[in-house]
Amino acid sequence: GTLFSDRLTGNIRYSIPEEMAVGSFVGNIGKDLGLQPERLVTGRARLFSPGGSEYVALDREEEQLVVRERIDREQLCGEAPVCSFSFEIILESPIELYRVTVEILDINDNSPVFPRSELKMEISESAVPGARFSLESARDLDVGVNSLQGYSLHPTDHFALKVHSRPGGSKSVEMILQTPLDREKQEQLNLMLTAVDGGNPKRTGTVKINIAVLDANDNAPVFKQSVYRASVPENAVKGTLVITVSATDADNESNGHIQYYFEHATRNINELFIINPSTGDIIVTGELDFEKSKLHEIKVQAKDQGGLTDSSDVLIEVLDVNDNAPKMTVMSFSSTLPEDSVPGTVIAMINVQDLDSGDNGRVKCSIDTALPFKIETSLTNYYSVLTDSVLDREQTSEYNITVIAVDGGSPSLSSNQTLHLKISDVNDHAPQFEQETYNAYLMENNPPSFSVFSVKANDADWGANARVSYYIEESDLNGLPLSSYISINADSGVIYAVTPFDYEQIKLIKLRVKAQDAGSPPLSSNATVSIIIQDQNDNAPQVLYPVQTAGSLVAEMVPRSAEVGYLVTKVVAVDVDSGQNAWLSYKLLKPADRPLFAVGLQNGEIRTIRQVSDKDAVKQKLTLIVEDNGQPPRSASVNVNVAVADSFPEILSEFTDFTHDRDYNDDLTFYLILSLAVVSFLFIVSIITILSVKCYRWRHERMFYKSGGNLPIIPYYPPHYKCCSLSVSQHVLHSYSSHSAVHSQKKG
Ligand SMILES: *[C@@H]1O[C@H](CO)[C@@H](O)[C@H](O)[C@H]1NC(C)=O
Ligand SMILES: *[C@@H]1O[C@H](CO)[C@@H](O)[C@H](O)[C@H]1NC(C)=O
Repeated sequence: GTLFSDRLTGNIRYSIPEEMAVGSFVGNIGKDLGLQPERLVTGRARLFSPGGSEYVALDREEEQLVVRERIDREQLCGEAPVCSFSFEIILESPIELYRVTVEILDINDNSPVFPRSELKMEISESAVPGARFSLESARDLDVGVNSLQGYSLHPTDHFALKVHSRPGGSKSVEMILQTPLDREKQEQLNLMLTAVDGGNPKRTGTVKINIAVLDANDNAPVFKQSVYRASVPENAVKGTLVITVSATDADNESNGHIQYYFEHATRNINELFIINPSTGDIIVTGELDFEKSKLHEIKVQAKDQGGLTDSSDVLIEVLDVNDNAPKMTVMSFSSTLPEDSVPGTVIAMINVQDLDSGDNGRVKCSIDTALPFKIETSLTNYYSVLTDSVLDREQTSEYNITVIAVDGGSPSLSSNQTLHLKISDVNDHAPQFEQETYNAYLMENNPPSFSVFSVKANDADWGANARVSYYIEESDLNGLPLSSYISINADSGVIYAVTPFDYEQIKLIKLRVKAQDAGSPPLSSNATVSIIIQDQNDNAPQVLYPVQTAGSLVAEMVPRSAEVGYLVTKVVAVDVDSGQNAWLSYKLLKPADRPLFAVGLQNGEIRTIRQVSDKDAVKQKLTLIVEDNGQPPRSASVNVNVAVADSFPEILSEFTDFTHDRDYNDDLTFYLILSLAVVSFLFIVSIITILSVKCYRWRHERMFYKSGGNLPIIPYYPPHYKCCSLSVSQHVLHSYSSHSAVHSQKKG
């Protein structure tokens, strides 16, 4: 084909002759469009011809257009002088559209053809020279020089030919009588009419004309007008009168009785119109269609009873009515669009066709302006729908875009088409924790793999982009990796304590939990979780003083002269728990009938509560219970030996049977006690001897014995006993435990 390219509009025009063999080369489309090599393949190029059959095919690999079907110009365009068809080439990603027009050039493949091969006529011998007789025209389907060019008649002794150009563009032919006819000489005339076109070589068509010469008697009818013009709307109902033709005849009576006919009418004309033979009314009998035929040319004949005729042309113009709604074709549509598409991304190409003409066929497309889309027209009748702003799937995940096409008729007709567009997700949201920081409470001595708490992060995206996994950021705790203490279920976000915790060792664990989605690339965020270990009353009080050793003989001395409230000793105990669990109270177990001693409930101080009387035994054994305030409480007991005496000898004599328990009376015990007593006696004697010697030596220091009796009562504090710091931390932990109470109430 021959190429006429118009790069400015993206239009390409090829010219090829009709009747080319299937597969013939039409054009080098890839090169002519200036496309990158392979673009036709990668863009999945295809042809789109709205409503038309596809005469041309695209060979993507060769980047060529080839003939796909036999193209008959006459079938495609009829007698239109210029014949072409157009189609679009659509490319995807990105969408591109090119219009290609192929013009079909005529070849002289049709001869002029007469409707009949033989024509019978009757002509009166009285016809005067100059009388006209209309003949059937021939038709040549070709156009231009290949169409009908002229007629010739043979022989030409009586008649000459006259060719008229009709208003519709076709030609009519008439014979004009040159010399009078004489029936007595020649009853029958045989003529040959030849039509010839202008092709190379020329093609011809012929018709035989047999003329019967009649006796003289009459005048021929004559039409009042040589051409009648009428117009009728295409939606005219059957029975509508279009026009009335009329002819007159100079003869009277029988010869004046005129009948009207369509002369050489085509089938199409006979389907659409009928003529009343006696009145000359032309009436609509079929469905007119402006889109099929805008003008009908009919030859009417008036004939009197003598057989004489006249003919006239009737031109019926069909008026367009807006009877066709625009027809919309979605040529290309991507039904899913990523939410990060830039504004201006083409999502659909639409073709609209309206078969009406003028304003009735002028179509405008629109879409709802509230949507973030717009519609634009690039080529006539082609529209593209594109995004107008940034989309957000999290806000609107799908759109129904209704494209409305309205023509310019009055009233106008419209049609619409809805595009269902889904917005696909892009990983543009990080998982979001419900809180930035979390506090969790864990009672110490938890079982292993105990579920402590769970965190949750939400991701507004969809699918894998919203599938959140949880991780703990690794760090060290007391020299060990955090993962040996705490783990997290990556899917559920449940945090587990791997091992039992001991409040006395770890009171608080701070960890950073990361939530990460499965997008590509993934997005993540952090939250801080503080796991607060809560104290449990798992430690009993520990007595630091007096030091408990088996069989201890250590005793506190109380002079018989001691005042009421005399401080005997102070029991010192600690509890490594905290808060209530470490809040200690002291009680005497089994107080005697007339107790001499009492213990301070809070401070553990043992004091006399009355004057010592003679009845009070020298040795007294007090058992104290030290109890913490936990739930349940834990306790420890401590024995305190007290000696009520003024002097050592007195004490010693009494302490010989300190270990003696009067309740024991079996033999073994008796012998044991006996042997102990003997040993003790010897021991005491030696002590007394030593003491006597010492007493003698330092007689002047006897005062010491009177005032120094209280010496052992000064409390003994172990070096690591830090009274103040303990009380501070007790206070802090007490407030933790009240938090935990609130927390567990909320959970409950
Ligand atoms: C779009 O239309 C379909 C059916 O026609 C309907 O199910 C859907 O809900 C509509 N979507 C929107 C966003 O209007
Ligand atoms: C998460 O924490 C790490 C370090 O702890 C930090 O580098 C990162 O920026 C944090 N990410 C977010 C989203 O806060």
